[in-house]
Amino acid sequence: MNTIDNSAPAKGLQDLFTNGLRDIYYAENKIVEALPKMAEGAESAELKQAFQQHLAETEEQILRLEQVFEILDTPATGKSCPAIDGIIQEGSEILEQYQGSPSIDAGLVAAAQAVEHYEIARYGTLLAWATQLGLSDAADLLGATLDEEEATDEALSAIAEGGANERAFSNAA
Ligand SMILES: [Fe+2]
Ligand SMILES: [Fe+2]
Repeated sequence: MNTIDNSAPAKGLQDLFTNGLRDIYYAENKIVEALPKMAEGAESAELKQAFQQHLAETEEQILRLEQVFEILDTPATGKSCPAIDGIIQEGSEILEQYQGSPSIDAGLVAAAQAVEHYEIARYGTLLAWATQLGLSDAADLLGATLDEEEATDEALSAIAEGGANERAFSNAA
């Protein structure tokens, strides 16, 4: 008998929200693995320090996400995110190909900013959805992380403009 199943629950905003949390939870865990390698590969003390500081922040961001899962009464689980896997893979390629070159920092800043922009997109959406869902505590947690991602992006721009791009340019063969 062909009938439309009306008993299936409608997938609504809360599903999208939970799904998005799982995506960024996976992504943050991958970022925690990648940042020490980027810090090690960076040439300038300034960029190394920026990556190390963001590693500490990222560990805190993972704890915030776990608090948001707790608010939803849902286990904290990640969902494979091919987008972040690809962005991190590109960063690894920069590390391999520019290691020891005067361009390494400019390349690593660019790779890291791709990560930050991905995160800013995701957290911006999740913050809007949490607000729409009336989850104000979750919104506060997500907003705190969004602020850190934006500050990191700006710090990376300052490092690029403050010397990393110049070093890559003036040493170009
Ligand atoms: Fe993050
Ligand atoms: Fe980040």
